[in-house]
This record gives sequence, C-alpha cells and structure tokens, in this order.
Amino acid sequence: MGVQALWAVFLVLGFLMFQAQVLQSKNLACNQSDLKALQEFMRGLQSPIQGWGTNNSSSPDCCNWLGITCYSSSSLGLVNDSVNSGRVTKLELARHRLTGKLVESVGSLDQLRTLNLSHNFLKDSLPFSLFHLPKSRGDCINLEHLCLGMNDLVGGVSEDIFQLKKLKLLDLQDNNFSGKLSTGIGKLLSLERLDISSNNFSGTIPDVFRSLSKLNFLLGHSNYFVGRIPISLANSPSLNLLNLRNNSLGGIIDLNCSSMTNLSSLDLATNSFSGNVPSYLPACKNLKNINLAKNKFTGKIPESFKDFQALSYLSLSNCSIINLSSTLRILQQCKSLTTLVLTLNFQGEALPADPTLHFENLKVLVIANCRLTGSIPQWLSNSSKLQLVDLSWNNLRGTIPSWFGGFEYLFYLDLSNNSFSGEIPRNLTGLPSLISRSISIEEPSPYFPLFLSRNERGRGLQYNQVWSFPPTLALSDNFLTGPIWPEFGNLTKLHDFKLKSNCLSGTIPSELSGMASLETLDLSHNNLSGVIPWSLVNLSFLSEFSVAYNQLHGKIPTGSQFMTFPNSSFVGNHLCGDHGTPPCPKSDGFPLESSRKSGRNKYAIIRMAVGVVFGTASLLVLMIMIVLRAHSRGLILKRWMQTHDKEADELGPRLVVLLQSKENYKDLSLEDLLKSTNNFDQENIIGCGGFGLVYRAALPDGRKLAIKRLSGDTGQMDREFRAEVEALSRAQHPNLVHLQGYGMFKNDKLLMKKENRESEVFDPIIYDKQNDKELLRVLEIACLCLSEHPKLRPSTEQLVSWLDSIDTNT
Ligand SMILES: *[C@@H]1O[C@H](CO)[C@@H](O)[C@H](O)[C@H]1NC(C)=O
Ligand SMILES: *[C@@H]1O[C@H](CO)[C@@H](O)[C@H](O)[C@H]1NC(C)=O
Ligand SMILES: *[C@@H]1O[C@H](CO)[C@@H](O)[C@H](O)[C@H]1NC(C)=O
Ligand SMILES: *[C@@H]1O[C@H](CO)[C@@H](O)[C@H](O)[C@H]1NC(C)=O
Ligand SMILES: *[C@@H]1O[C@H](CO)[C@@H](O)[C@H](O)[C@H]1NC(C)=O
Ligand SMILES: *[C@@H]1O[C@H](CO)[C@@H](O)[C@H](O)[C@H]1NC(C)=O
Ligand SMILES: *[C@@H]1O[C@H](CO)[C@@H](O)[C@H](O)[C@H]1NC(C)=O
Ligand SMILES: *[C@@H]1O[C@H](CO)[C@@H](O)[C@H](O)[C@H]1NC(C)=O
Ligand SMILES: *[C@@H]1O[C@H](CO)[C@@H](O)[C@H](O)[C@H]1NC(C)=O
Ligand SMILES: *[C@@H]1O[C@H](CO)[C@@H](O)[C@H](O)[C@H]1NC(C)=O
Ligand SMILES: *[C@@H]1O[C@H](CO)[C@@H](O)[C@H](O)[C@H]1NC(C)=O
Ligand SMILES: *[C@@H]1O[C@H](CO)[C@@H](O)[C@H](O)[C@H]1NC(C)=O
Repeated sequence: MGVQALWAVFLVLGFLMFQAQVLQSKNLACNQSDLKALQEFMRGLQSPIQGWGTNNSSSPDCCNWLGITCYSSSSLGLVNDSVNSGRVTKLELARHRLTGKLVESVGSLDQLRTLNLSHNFLKDSLPFSLFHLPKSRGDCINLEHLCLGMNDLVGGVSEDIFQLKKLKLLDLQDNNFSGKLSTGIGKLLSLERLDISSNNFSGTIPDVFRSLSKLNFLLGHSNYFVGRIPISLANSPSLNLLNLRNNSLGGIIDLNCSSMTNLSSLDLATNSFSGNVPSYLPACKNLKNINLAKNKFTGKIPESFKDFQALSYLSLSNCSIINLSSTLRILQQCKSLTTLVLTLNFQGEALPADPTLHFENLKVLVIANCRLTGSIPQWLSNSSKLQLVDLSWNNLRGTIPSWFGGFEYLFYLDLSNNSFSGEIPRNLTGLPSLISRSISIEEPSPYFPLFLSRNERGRGLQYNQVWSFPPTLALSDNFLTGPIWPEFGNLTKLHDFKLKSNCLSGTIPSELSGMASLETLDLSHNNLSGVIPWSLVNLSFLSEFSVAYNQLHGKIPTGSQFMTFPNSSFVGNHLCGDHGTPPCPKSDGFPLESSRKSGRNKYAIIRMAVGVVFGTASLLVLMIMIVLRAHSRGLILKRWMQTHDKEADELGPRLVVLLQSKENYKDLSLEDLLKSTNNFDQENIIGCGGFGLVYRAALPDGRKLAIKRLSGDTGQMDREFRAEVEALSRAQHPNLVHLQGYGMFKNDKLLMKKENRESEVFDPIIYDKQNDKELLRVLEIACLCLSEHPKLRPSTEQLVSWLDSIDTNT
C-alpha cells in the first residue's frame, strides 16, 4: 500500500486559510492582545481546537491557526499600534463541534469583522459583557457578521450586542434564547439581516425598526411572539422578506404598502391574525410570495387581489375563507401565479366549471380537504404547466379526464378520497414526467420554502413542514372500475402508486415490474383476480405493498422484499405460501425459474441473507438487529457533499493519522493500524456503515478503537470522506462515537472512533465465504437505507447505481 498520508478535510481547510493569511498579513505575527483573547476563548471551550493553543514560551502565531484570518495593522490603518502586527479580523469555526462556553474575551478582538461559530454545541448564556467596549474606544467595534445560530445558547441576548454599530448580520437562529426581544435591536443601525427564528423569544416585538433603514431580511418564525406587527416594521421601506410564521401574533395585518416598497416575501402563517384577508396587499407592488395559511380570517378573497402583478406563490390554507368560485375568478388574473394552495377552506362548495377560467402559469394546485362537489373542470386542462395537483379529500364525481395524461410536467397527482367513477384513463400511463423526466418543485426562495406537507391524517397537502414530493399517482378511495393498465409499467419514475379501495377488476399486470422506482404499491380493497405476478419481485425499492382484500389466488411470490411485507398485505384473498396463508399444493406449477432468470445476482444475495436467517422475518428487522448488535455507534450515515478538492491529492506522504487528542495517541502509524486490525482482517469487522466497514483495532498498548475504512471509487470517496468527517465532528450524542482521528492513504480512508463495547456483526449463519464481498456490500447499502433521517437516505438513483455496481464487480 502506498503510504501517502493526507490530512484530508482539516489540512485542506488549513491550507486554504494559510494562503489567505500570507497574502493579508505578510507573515506578521499576531498581536499579543489578540493572541491572549483567542487563548481565553479556547479555554472557555471544553474541546480543543485542532492546531490551536501551542502554549510554549516562543509565542505562537495565532494568525496561522485554523479558522483565523488576519490583516496587518498597517493595512487596517491602525496608526496607534506600536509594531506592525497581524490583527485577527475573522474567527470562523462553524461546524467544528465546539462545546463549552463562549467567553467574553472574544469581545476584545477589536478588529474582528466576522465571528462565525454557527452549527456547534456552545451552551449556557452569552457572557454579560461579551462585547463590552473599552470606554475610550466606544466606536471601534468592527464586527459585521455575528453568527451564533444552531448552538445551545440560552437566556437573554446580551445587551452588549446592541452596541455593535457596524453589525450587518446577526444570526441567532435555532438556539434557546428566551425572554422579550430587547429594544436594543433598534440600535443596530447597519443591520441588514436578522435571524432569531426557532428560539424561545416571547412577548411583543419591540417597535424599534424605524432606525434600521438597511434591514432586508427579518426571520423570526417559530418563537412565542404575541401582539401585533409593530408599526415601524409594517412601514419598513427596506424590508425584503418578513417571516414571522408560527408565533402567536394577532389582530389585523396592517402593513403600509406605500412604505414597504421592497417587500417581496411575506410569511405570516400559523398565527392568530383575524379580520378579512387584507385587501390592500396588491399595493405592495413587489410581493411575490405570500403565505397566510392557518390564521383566523373571515370572508372572501378581496376583489383587489386581481391586481397582484408579481404574485407567484399564494397559500391561504386553513383560513376559513369562502366562495371558491370568486376566489378562482379573481386569482386567474394574477398572471404570474405558479403556486396556489387553498386546502381546508370553502367547505362543501362546488368546484366551479366556468369554462372561461384560465391559469396559464400554474405549476402547483392544491385544493384538498374542502369537501368540494362537482367534477374536474375542463378549464384545468389549459394549465399545461402543471406539475403537482392535489384535489384529495373532496366529494368530486364523474370520471378522471384523460387529458391529465397530456400534462407534460405533471409528476404528482392525488385525487384520492373522492367519488370518481369509470375507468382509470389509459392516458395517464403516458405522463412524460413519470416515464423519463425527473421534475422537482422549485422553492420560491431559500428563505421561503414551500411549506407544504401532509398533515397527520394524510388529508391533503398543507403548509407547515418541509416535505418533499415523491412522484405520485394516488387514486385511492374512489369508485373506479375497470383494469389496471399494463402500460403503467412504463412509468419508471413513479415512486408511489396508490389504487386502494376502488372497484378495479382484472389481473395485476406483470408489466408493473417495469416501474423501477416504485416504493409504494397499494392495490388493496379492489376486485382484482388472478395471481400475483412473480415479476414484481424485481421491484427492488418496493417497501410498502398491499393486495389485501381482492380475489387473488395462487402462490405468493417469494424472495427479494416480498419476505419483508407483513401478512396483512395479503389477507382477504385465496393465496397460498408464506405470510400466514395455507401452504401451496405441491403440484402448483408456478414459473419459478422463468421469472428468476431475470433476477440478478444481487437479489440472490439479499434473498440468501434474508431467507437463511430469518425466514419470514423482515429484511428491515434483520438489518436493524444487525445494526443494534453491531452496537452501531460507528454508523454515521451521511449525505453526499458537493465539494471535491484537488489539493488533497497534491499533499505528499506525511503523517499517518491525524488524531484529535494528541496526548492520547501520539505516534500511531499506518503500520500500527494495520497491525492492530490484523491487516483489516474480516475477523475484526464490527459494523457496517455507508461506504465503509468498521473494524475493531487493538492497539499495541491494549487500547481499543473502532476504525472505519472507507473504500470505493476515489472521486466519490473524497467527498464521502469529507462528509463523514464533517458528520462525525459535528455529531455529539451519547449514542454516537467520538471521532479520534482520521487519515487518508492512497485509496483508503480511515476514521477512528473509540470502541466502547465489543460485538460482532456477522452471524456465522449468514456469513457465506463464497459471496462475502457482495454480501458485505449489500449490507452496507442496507444500513445506509436505514438512516433515521430521510434526507440522509440514498436516492433511488444512487441505490440503483450502487446495486448495479455490485453486479459488475462479480
Ligand atoms: C500556558 O502557559 C501559561 C504559563 O506559561 C499558563 O499560565 C497557561 O495556563 C498555559 N495555558 C494552557 C492552555 O496550558
Ligand atoms: C514551541 O512551539 C514551536 C512551534 O510552534 C516549536 O517549534 C518549539 O519546539 C516549541 N517549544 C517548546 C519549548 O516546546
Ligand atoms: C491614536 O491615539 C491618539 C491619542 O491617543 C488618538 O487621538 C487617535 O484617535 C488614535 N488613533 C486611532 C486610529 O486609534
Ligand atoms: C495590539 O492591539 C492592541 C489593541 O487591542 C494595541 O493597543 C497594541 O498596540 C497592539 N500591539 C502591537 C504590538 O501592535
Ligand atoms: C457561517 O458558517 C456557516 C456554516 O459554514 C455558513 O453557512 C455561513 O454562510 C457563514 N456565515 C458567514 C457570514 O460567513
Ligand atoms: C431552554 O431553556 C430553558 C431555561 O431557560 C429550559 O428550561 C429548557 O429546557 C430549554 N429547552 C431546550 C429545548 O433546551
Ligand atoms: C422557554 O423558556 C422558559 C423559561 O424562560 C422555559 O420554562 C421553557 O421551558 C422554554 N421553552 C422551551 C421550549 O424551551
Ligand atoms: C412552531 O414553533 C414551535 C415553538 O417554537 C416549535 O416547537 C415547532 O416545532 C414549530 N413548528 C413548525 C412546524 O415549525
Ligand atoms: C431590497 O431588497 C434587496 C434584496 O435583499 C436588497 O438588496 C436591496 O438593498 C433592498 N432595497 C432597499 C431599498 O433596501
Ligand atoms: C404609509 O406610508 C406612507 C409613505 O411612507 C406615509 O406617508 C403614510 O403616512 C403611512 N401611513 C400610515 C398610516 O402610517
Ligand atoms: C392523452 O389525451 C390527450 C387529449 O385528450 C392527448 O393530447 C394526449 O396525446 C394523450 N396522451 C397519451 C399518452 O395518450
Ligand atoms: C408502454 O408499455 C407497452 C406495453 O406494456 C409497450 O408496448 C409500449 O411500447 C410502452 N410505451 C412506451 C412509450 O414505452
């Protein structure tokens, strides 16, 4: 093995920063008082910062420390500095797993422009005099960007912050700050962006925004604010985005559009605003995105809404508004409208059929859970840009029009829980976006996500949570008759296909196995007959499947994920085989072999693993058990990162492994690692994670470590490695290992974690020498798919390509 050691992430960062300083501080050593402040800052932390704190007599140059940027005092025009030295202008240690307290010494870094400590684990309150200014130099605090978001800070906001006259960005989001928001905010005359969202602020919002003439963004959602929107805020000429969603604000919404000329996004959803939907809003000429969902309005949409020029996104879900007919008549005149969400209003009204209605740019239409009567109107067919339509939970009747199949961009159609009858239009099998394209919904802005979600009961799309939209056809709970068209098999991009509780008849077409991305297939409660086609075992991503309560007979397919479906997926039929059904008669000539010939090796491996060990138990359970038994503290499953730095490859052979706590493992070399894992012997495998197996390592001195060895194609692996290090260094949880060190050898990356308990991952029963490589790979992938957070789970495309790569390796 080429012993080419790289300090991956850390070195790359350090390298870039070092370069910057050379340019800026021309090798000037840092100012002694800055050094002292940083050393005190470091002492307030519980965890060391990599490369900081060389504490010996020859005073260290803090300008070379990780996350520090210096400028020379001469370039800063500091004529009073006795010597030209490097002055700290940036302290950027976001996502460095810092724990402990933020001490007030930071305030004496008097040339600091940027303090970015977001995404860490800083706790306790801000020190009373964090930015306590030396009396004599009261106007010299230079801080422009203060980012303390995503920490665990508590208590009030230190009043000192409000003396930072040059502050442009104050980010305190996602902490546990509490109490009233101080009127001191009004002293931050340079403020452009204020983010105090997701804290525990309460009381009224102080009326001090008149002086903040540069404020563009105000994010204050998810606090406990009460009262009204302060007058100075409602008159702010600079404000571009106002997001006070999810508070307890009330009264009428009283914005002065003659003043608010820059307002583009307004999110006041989930509050207690009352009165009529404000009719003056179109006078805010630049308004593009409006979310007023879940408030206590009354009445109709004002006639004036036809005058919106730029309006693109409008959500008025759950706002107690009436008269859908006039609502649509008015809103169709907003020519830029792309997203219209009107769920939970207009109870029991008719969906208007007026043929003159026309929404030419509409992409998202959600009018769910309104008990609407009538049928799907012809006018909708002219909205040729539709991507997502949700009309579920209404009382709509008639047939589903075939022109839905002509929507070029439609990838999400939910018409479930209505009273539609007739056949499923064959035309739906030709939806281009479900055959070949991957469409995703664009969010209006990063600060204004589409807050649509299913509510708890699945009753239509709503507002509140971020929710992604898997390509879906949901026609459940209607009175549809006729067959399931074999051509549905052409919809290779479809994820969810739900036809439950209709009166569909005929057989289940074996062609459905062509829906390669399918994750949910619900055909229960219909009149389907015939057998369950064996070809369905090829739907590798199917995780929810039901054919319960039909007229099916014959043998339930075995193998692949069919083992994982519960017995309830098959009840109410005349089926035989596993899943609590009677055993099949011997003579049953089901074409086992013919369907298997298409099954590829990977399924054979999955089948083997599952079948041998647990028989009827589910794959999921098996994997969870393995994970638990592996004591999977080492399993950090992560997402793909975009960056790929060339620099890492250019660093020559160096130290073998970089360790966090130097005193503990000072001289660990690659050889030691190889020895301690017996050359990464499979005997020492104790867990599996995304793209890497975890090995037990016994160091010469008797200590134990878990070492994760990431391996794979290098282009991806560098990103992987970086992601892993990032995830691990951010992760701090009793159930997660702590990163001790990492190293990167030519094609091998190692992560070292402390081993706490010994355990074995592989049950000798499933361990099969012949297919070991493939089995391990499949287990890795399975573990990745079990990641708790959906966002960390691999996408279908990734999975397909990973599984395919197993094939080619064998
Ligand atoms: C650095 O050394 C000084 C005395 O030389 C000592 O007071 C201080 O505590 C040391 N700092 C650390 C972090 O060890
Ligand atoms: C002090 O640190 C420098 C590098 O920062 C190192 O070269 C030197 O040997 C250290 N001195 C002592 C006494 O540890
Ligand atoms: C330098 O010091 C003098 C006197 O102490 C003071 O008047 C002046 O404002 C200082 N200049 C700067 C740039 O701090
Ligand atoms: C270091 O910075 C302080 C201000 O914080 C200044 O008074 C002092 O003169 C600087 N030291 C040198 C050596 O320039
Ligand atoms: C602070 O760090 C976070 C995380 O790295 C980054 O997203 C953000 O842009 C940084 N903020 C500033 C002002 O540099
Ligand atoms: C927030 O801080 C309060 C005390 O100020 C504490 O009672 C509460 O548990 C904290 N909440 C969280 C989620 O940490
Ligand atoms: C909010 O703060 C109060 C005390 O200020 C505390 O009792 C409460 O638990 C906090 N709420 C949350 C959700 O942290
Ligand atoms: C709304 O705010 C509360 C309190 O801050 C928070 O617990 C909850 O998660 C927020 N809900 C959403 C959907 O953001
Ligand atoms: C309006 O908002 C934009 C976007 O944030 C900002 O760049 C611009 O400076 C604002 N205009 C005024 C007059 O504040
Ligand atoms: C609304 O803003 C305009 C322009 O700034 C101002 O003249 C007017 O007095 C404001 N109206 C109210 C009610 O504050
Ligand atoms: C579906 O029907 C529409 C018109 O009714 C037609 O334009 C379109 O081509 C049809 N699509 C398919 C796939 O048959
Ligand atoms: C759709 O599927 C049918 C049979 O299931 C096939 O004959 C047809 O060629 C497919 N159409 C496309 C566009 O792939």
